[in-house]
Amino acid sequence: EKGGFDSFMDKEIHDQPQAVADTLLGRTDATGALVLDDLRIDESVLRAVNKIIVVACGTAAYSGHVAKYAIEHWCRIPVEVELAHEFRYRDPIVDERTLVVAVTQSGETMDTLMAVRHAREQGAKVISIVNTHGSTIPRESDAVLYTHAGPEIAVASTKAFLAQITAAYVLGLYLAQLRGNKFPDEIARLLDDLRAMPRKIQTVIERGEYVRATARSMEKSDKVLFLGRHVGFPVALEGALKLKELAYIHAEGFAAGELKHGPIALIDEGQPVFVVVPSPRGRDSLHSKIVSNIQEIRARGARTLVIAEDGDDAVRPYADEIFWIPQAPTLLQPLLAVVPLQIFAMALATAKGLDVDQPRNLAKSVTVE
Ligand code: BG6
Repeated sequence: EKGGFDSFMDKEIHDQPQAVADTLLGRTDATGALVLDDLRIDESVLRAVNKIIVVACGTAAYSGHVAKYAIEHWCRIPVEVELAHEFRYRDPIVDERTLVVAVTQSGETMDTLMAVRHAREQGAKVISIVNTHGSTIPRESDAVLYTHAGPEIAVASTKAFLAQITAAYVLGLYLAQLRGNKFPDEIARLLDDLRAMPRKIQTVIERGEYVRATARSMEKSDKVLFLGRHVGFPVALEGALKLKELAYIHAEGFAAGELKHGPIALIDEGQPVFVVVPSPRGRDSLHSKIVSNIQEIRARGARTLVIAEDGDDAVRPYADEIFWIPQAPTLLQPLLAVVPLQIFAMALATAKGLDVDQPRNLAKSVTVE
C-alpha cells in the first residue's frame, strides 16, 4: 500500500499534487463561477457574516493561519485563528453573525468537536473543512467543505495540510464572490493561479533529493529554528512542528520580525535556521525585510537554509543552502514552501533510524479532550 515508497509519509508527500488538484475539482459551474454544493448555509447568512473564527489543532491550525491572510485580503472580513481547546474555554465572543470554520483531517478531534458545539450553542454557523467522510465533526456542522486528500495514514499530517490550505482558499474566494469583494474575472484569475499549483508542487518534490542530502548531513543537530513573515510565518511554525513530531528535535518557528525582540539571542555559531522567503515580485517590502533578517542572523554565525523562489538572486550571498521553489503569488506560496520542510523532517528522522509513520507518543486522531 506504500506504493513502492519507504514510508506512508513519503508516499503521502508524493500524493500532494493530486490532493490539491482533487480538492479544487468540480468547484466551478459552466460560467467559471465558484459553486460550493456542499455548503448548505443560506447565502444571506454568509453575506451578513462580520467575523470568522478558525478553530483547529496541530497542523490543521496552521492551515487556519494561512486562511486568515488569504480571507482577510480577499474578503475584508476579520479572521481570528484559535486553537480549539483555547477557544472553548475562554468565553469567546460569538454570535449569529460569526462564522466558525473548523479544520480537521480526521473529523474526530475531540477538542475541535467541543469548539464546534460551543460555537453553535452561541448561535454561530459552523463550516467544517474535513478530510474523512462519515466522521463526527461534519455531522455536527451546518455545512462541510471536504478536502480530497484521500486517506492519510502517517500520524504527522502532510497532504491533508495542503488540501486544507487549498479548501480555505476556495472558501475565501467563494465568500469574495458572494459578497462582491472581487470581480468575476479576478476570481477566475486567482482560480487559474490555484490550478497551476499542483504542477509546481510536483516540481518541488522532484527537487527533494537535495533536501534529503542536507538533512542527512544534519543528523546531529539538536536545535533548529524556522523564520517566516506573512504566510511564511505559519509555514515556519509547521516546519518546526514536523521536525519535533518526526525527529524529536527541539524546533521553533518565529515571525521573522520578532527576531530582534528576543529569538536572535538564540543564534550562535553554526545554529541552523530555515528562512522562508516571500516572492521578490510582491509589491511591498516583505522580501527586502526578510533578506535583512537573513543577513542579521548570518552575521551572528547562523547556518542559513533558505527557501526562495526561482530567480531570487538577492538571497544568494547570504544563504548557506538554498531550496528553490517555483514562482507563485505570495498568498499561495505556502503550498510550495512547506514541502521542503516536510521532506527535511522526514529525511532527518529516517537518518536517525526513527519510524516516521508512527512517532512516539502521538496518535493520528485524538478523541479525548
Ligand atoms: C494530532 C495529530 O494529534 O491532531 C496531528 O497527530 C493533527 O497530525 C492534529 O494535525 C489535528 O488532527 P485533525 O484530525 O483534527 O486534523
